[in-house]
Amino acid sequence: MKIVRTVNELIAITDRLKQDHKTIGFVPTMGYLHEGHTTLMDKSKNYADVLIASIFVNPLQFGPDEDFERYPRNEERDQKIAEQHNVDILFLPTVEGMYPQDATIKLHVKRRTDVLCGKSRPGHFDGVATVLTKLFHLTKADFVFLGLKDAQQVAVVKGLIDDLNFPIKLIAVPTVREADGLAKSSRNVYLSERERKEATHLHQALRTGQQLIIDGEKNPVMIIEEVKKYLDRETNGKIDYVDLLSFPSLKQIDIIDQQIIIAVAVQFTKARLIDNLIISETGTVPKAIV
Ligand code: PAJ
Repeated sequence: MKIVRTVNELIAITDRLKQDHKTIGFVPTMGYLHEGHTTLMDKSKNYADVLIASIFVNPLQFGPDEDFERYPRNEERDQKIAEQHNVDILFLPTVEGMYPQDATIKLHVKRRTDVLCGKSRPGHFDGVATVLTKLFHLTKADFVFLGLKDAQQVAVVKGLIDDLNFPIKLIAVPTVREADGLAKSSRNVYLSERERKEATHLHQALRTGQQLIIDGEKNPVMIIEEVKKYLDRETNGKIDYVDLLSFPSLKQIDIIDQQIIIAVAVQFTKARLIDNLIISETGTVPKAIV
């Protein structure tokens, strides 16, 4: 595995790969790697000749009161994990390397962001779109692998790729979970023992909603209410949102007649956890989502 720390070195390497007609798979991350990330890495070999992964805690996507400074970091451990998962090139840029000057251009995501996490994290997806635009250019990726754990991010990046004509295929990978259903996340380390036990109920709450759809419920309001009730009963965390929207357009709907997302966010003492299920109008889990 080759470690690359500068933008210029990465450009030189990917120029060469393209001259050699290699296809490139790309897994962008913020590090503190876990099985969610490595599942994305493992997918790449089915699609591309070469795998590039990046680790960059992107300051642009954190709000002033968010956890940029204390976002968990462990470069040495991450390097070992990336190597074990057949990463060919690990890109580890610095903030100055990625943002050397005051930006002239500001990317603004204007759809799919007024709901779910976008609502409570203004500017977050602008930061994600900006860093991914840069990383798409630098890596010259043919395939990008993103996790459905961050389903709104998948919806926004789908819009970015379509609107700006990136020649990249987006592969959305199902959420990887702990044995009890908790979605794997770098932020799970912040949960107390009691909160960790309660956190399993995010997934259970979503499953309750899914079961209602399987049983024939078509009214989003009814399902949202039941999921909220479940979370209120089973956790002490503060519910940030429970919502049911079309996916990937992320629009409010009056009746469930298309592929939808049920999404929840719960604030625990030191960690805000999100989870979601994307399901067809009959309640089944679709194979290809975007
Ligand atoms: P990060 O939170 O490190 O996540 C990197 C990728 O791993 C994302 O595509 C995310 O959806 C995926 N992922 C995380 N946990 C997962 C799980 N339990 N199951 C499946 N996939 C999972 O998302 C980001 O970083 C950043 O916003 C980034 C795209 C790198 C841009 O800065």
